[in-house]
Amino acid sequence: MTAQHAQWGSRLTFILAATGSAVGLGNIWKFPYMVGESGGAGFVLVYLVCIALIGMPVLVAEWLLGRRGGRNPIDTMAKLARERGRSRAWALLGVSGVLVGAVILSFYSVIGGWSLYYTGQAAGAQFAGADAEGVSEIFDRMLASPGTLLVVHTLFMAASVAIVARGLKGGIEMAVRLLMPTLAVLILVLLIYAMFTGHFGAALHYMFALDLDSLTGGTVLAAMGQAFFTLSVGAGIMMAYGSYLGQETDLLSTARTVIAFDTVFALAAGLIIFPIVFANGLETSEGPGLIFVTLPLAFAEMSGGTVIGVLFFVLLSFAALTSSISLLEPAVEFLDERSRLGRVGATVLSGALIWVLGIAALLSFNLWSAPLPVVDLTVFDLLDVMTSQYMLPLNGFFAVLFVGWVLDREQVRRELGLEGVRATLWSLAARVIAPLGVGAVFVAGLT
Ligand code: PHE
Repeated sequence: MTAQHAQWGSRLTFILAATGSAVGLGNIWKFPYMVGESGGAGFVLVYLVCIALIGMPVLVAEWLLGRRGGRNPIDTMAKLARERGRSRAWALLGVSGVLVGAVILSFYSVIGGWSLYYTGQAAGAQFAGADAEGVSEIFDRMLASPGTLLVVHTLFMAASVAIVARGLKGGIEMAVRLLMPTLAVLILVLLIYAMFTGHFGAALHYMFALDLDSLTGGTVLAAMGQAFFTLSVGAGIMMAYGSYLGQETDLLSTARTVIAFDTVFALAAGLIIFPIVFANGLETSEGPGLIFVTLPLAFAEMSGGTVIGVLFFVLLSFAALTSSISLLEPAVEFLDERSRLGRVGATVLSGALIWVLGIAALLSFNLWSAPLPVVDLTVFDLLDVMTSQYMLPLNGFFAVLFVGWVLDREQVRRELGLEGVRATLWSLAARVIAPLGVGAVFVAGLT
């Protein structure tokens, strides 16, 4: 165990780091294509409801647990369970969080690699003058080459390892402080562009005009999974980040801020991408390639598109990086505190294992593109579905259950600064609504 546990520099730093973790490929890459695959507004509605009713209590619960435990997620859960005279088996929640974070990072890094590749393509002015077909070809060519994917996956992993190895602060705080506002400006520029493509109204309609027919059990499950994924909850991360938090930070208002940023980024990404999809007669159900075959088209047409394209993919890469760092952190915190490897050794070891799993994920796009037997999914899809749709909600369910039912209710209320009606509302959310919500969605999705 390290003698001294690090702490965030300030509340702002924590907000930026947590927002940096939350805002990432999940918002810009995954959210729009999931909306597209699920047919639009029904998915968006369930997603927003899940964020508010389930995501928020789970996020607060994980921070609270992390801050109380003051250690890596596994020891935090073991310590808190012991204090309350409960079974040591609660430590499994920490174990599961750490593992899920690592598994997500394996495929996340592959997509982070795509962002790096596209940064290079944009810089080489490869999109200039390209049409929809040309742009799809660039994407397909990248996917067909295991070598290319391996190089960019390795680069992305190496960058994550280099940052995490330097410790909690080592540059991350400065980086997010600079990058997050810049990302916001760029999203705004693209949003304004999207408004003038003439198909903005269609995109609004697509995302917000509710059509209940598109709502199936599977859609609901996917939307809840995405709500967990986008908030980075259920993967030990917010617990790990909470362990570096001081008592003075107000968890509820901080959660509201982080969630607001995260939601705005996701909705904006959708409103940028769908107008381009409609304007160019592309398919909304394109899947994981969606942003990689739509945005380059916009960059090809707009004046100054090459510069904006480079900036966009650089920032997408950085947004991915501020999330991948967080995905690595729980495993590293655990290994660092519980072994003699030291911070650097712990980071390199975790990074290397995750990198290997990532190779299996990237081969899903070429050599191993045939679906696995039984599950009928590629390795990439299996890792994604298993973690996002099942493990994250399950871990979140137990985290909020622990805070709601195992911890002392009065103490929790005091820690959150809640009284009267708000205290009752919190208890209702943490004890009943969030756990039942996760349960209900599971039942709906699995039947
Ligand atoms: N929330 C991040 C994103 O939306 C990804 C992530 C998922 C990070 C799960 C941590 C845990 O890109």
